[in-house]
Amino acid sequence: MCGIIGYVGKNDANSVLIDGLRKLEYRGYDSCGIATISNNQLQVMKTVNRIDSLVPCTQKLGTSNIGIGHTRWATHGGASEKNAHPHVDNSDRFVVVHNGIIENYLELRKELALQGYKFYSETDTEVIPNLIAMNYDGNLLEALKKTTNVLEGSYALGVIDTKEPEVLVATKKNSPLIVGLGENENFIASDFSAVLKYTDAVSILDNNDFVVLTKEDVKFYDRNLNLKQNAVKYIDTNDGDIEKNGYEHFMLKEINENTITVKKTLDSYLDGEEIKFNLNIKPKEFKNIKHIHIVACGTAMHAGLNAKYVIEKLTRIPVNVEVASEFRYKNPILDKDDLAIFISQSGETADTLACLELVKQEGIKHISFVNVKDSTMDNLSENVLYTKAGPEIAVASTKAYIAQIMLLDLFAIYLAKINKSYDEEKLNDMLKSAIEIPNAIQEVLENDEIYQNYAERISYTSDMFYLGRGLDYYVALEGSLKLKEISYIHSEAMPFGELKHGSIALIEEGTPAIAIATDKKMIDKTVSNIKEIKARGADVMAITTIKDFPEDVVDEIIYLPEVNEIFSPLVSTIPLQLIAYHVTVEKGLDVDKPRNLAKSVTVE
Ligand code: F6R
Repeated sequence: MCGIIGYVGKNDANSVLIDGLRKLEYRGYDSCGIATISNNQLQVMKTVNRIDSLVPCTQKLGTSNIGIGHTRWATHGGASEKNAHPHVDNSDRFVVVHNGIIENYLELRKELALQGYKFYSETDTEVIPNLIAMNYDGNLLEALKKTTNVLEGSYALGVIDTKEPEVLVATKKNSPLIVGLGENENFIASDFSAVLKYTDAVSILDNNDFVVLTKEDVKFYDRNLNLKQNAVKYIDTNDGDIEKNGYEHFMLKEINENTITVKKTLDSYLDGEEIKFNLNIKPKEFKNIKHIHIVACGTAMHAGLNAKYVIEKLTRIPVNVEVASEFRYKNPILDKDDLAIFISQSGETADTLACLELVKQEGIKHISFVNVKDSTMDNLSENVLYTKAGPEIAVASTKAYIAQIMLLDLFAIYLAKINKSYDEEKLNDMLKSAIEIPNAIQEVLENDEIYQNYAERISYTSDMFYLGRGLDYYVALEGSLKLKEISYIHSEAMPFGELKHGSIALIEEGTPAIAIATDKKMIDKTVSNIKEIKARGADVMAITTIKDFPEDVVDEIIYLPEVNEIFSPLVSTIPLQLIAYHVTVEKGLDVDKPRNLAKSVTVE
């Protein structure tokens, strides 16, 4: 989703901004732009092409020590240069970059139009520089404060004034913004990655707070413009984690990091047969839980579905899994003995955050499973368990999903141990067997050629099926989403037994179908289902851990290393990630930055 970078300091702003935008590229964007001030002259450049296409233009510009930059993911108005940020007021004086959505912009636009302001874009953002101009009375910070008083919705804003080219002002509400503190240079950005090259000292701006940055100084203000102190954190993220390290794409690098991700998760939370979670929920409270609500979006929601199966199996506590954009508006039935679980890689997903706020207001116990430390979700949650995937740059989530599954499996076992709801010896056997998972994942990764060959064979298709039962169905859902989002091939995931209730009508000669079959108990049912689709012409590949799988019923079979049943998705998801990746490469598409998608979905 949109990315913001702002700079004031000793170096040339043009190159710092371009550099920062490149680091924010992974969030997804369809246009971008920068504004700098040189000799009191405003220079604005925008493009609907990639960030690199701004570089030749910046080289022709005069050097500047202040500027703001933006990657835009279109919401109000299509991807065009006129809609791209930065936006300026009618007098070309105040310049703004914005992430978020101004919900009352039409109303504000009408009011401003009555006062003679003109609008040149279709964006919600363009009201902001004009409001600042209207509210300006010699002090940019005060003008920004007056402006935010009338804004409804979410925003992170960076503002510069052409007549005061040594000051950068910013604020935020329900949209992420961090401040980077350097030596004779200071920054604002949507996330740490954009400033890490220059400084590891960062401060997270609180909702409704303001910050004023100059080359030498950074001052934080609360919503009433009282000066306040803001904690500074030192980020230890290795810049290497946000580079491709020799891989052709981030996605391939991240798929290959699945092994280390699982290992790190186990090393961080497992000590022999003891699971170590630092939570402010007492064992007695865990014992009283009557109902668990898991709330997330997209891939994280698939991890939630997988967790539902495992938690219900081990604890017999009913779990419902809800898409965050539905949960927030459905007036959910919540009880004081319930537990809410939120899952998010970015920790910035607007809908999931809104559900977290809702659950907090109701005083419900909650735990957030978050990958990005110091994200909004991390800061807002009373209990956080960190997934150990490290920075995930490719838009399609791979290693973060595997980390979520691993950690939620551990959580299910933890809960079962506290509640004594499952045979202790069996739980300990599960934990002992968990150490085999990284090797099993590695074995799948080393057989990548199989998936590459399969991908070449099916990349022509326009439709595809992913089928499974139980946990295998959730794996199917995730495999299908991965293929859709990056290769643009339509695919459908179904519980195998459900197919004949309608969707089987879509199977015709040559329709590729992947059958995931890791559950020995269900093998006969699965084989019958495969026969049903084979009889209608499907080209079936089975992915299985079952040694005596009847090979003759499928066109192709891939055997995976066997792990404990509850951990099987950690292994069986990997082939599907690799297939989606190779199909996309085969089709010559942009793997890491698929069309229309954003890495952090910071608007509703
Ligand atoms: C798909 C994908 C998305 C995210 C979803 C939630 O590959 O990445 O479906 O899972 O947008 O994002 P987070 O986990 O950041 O809340």
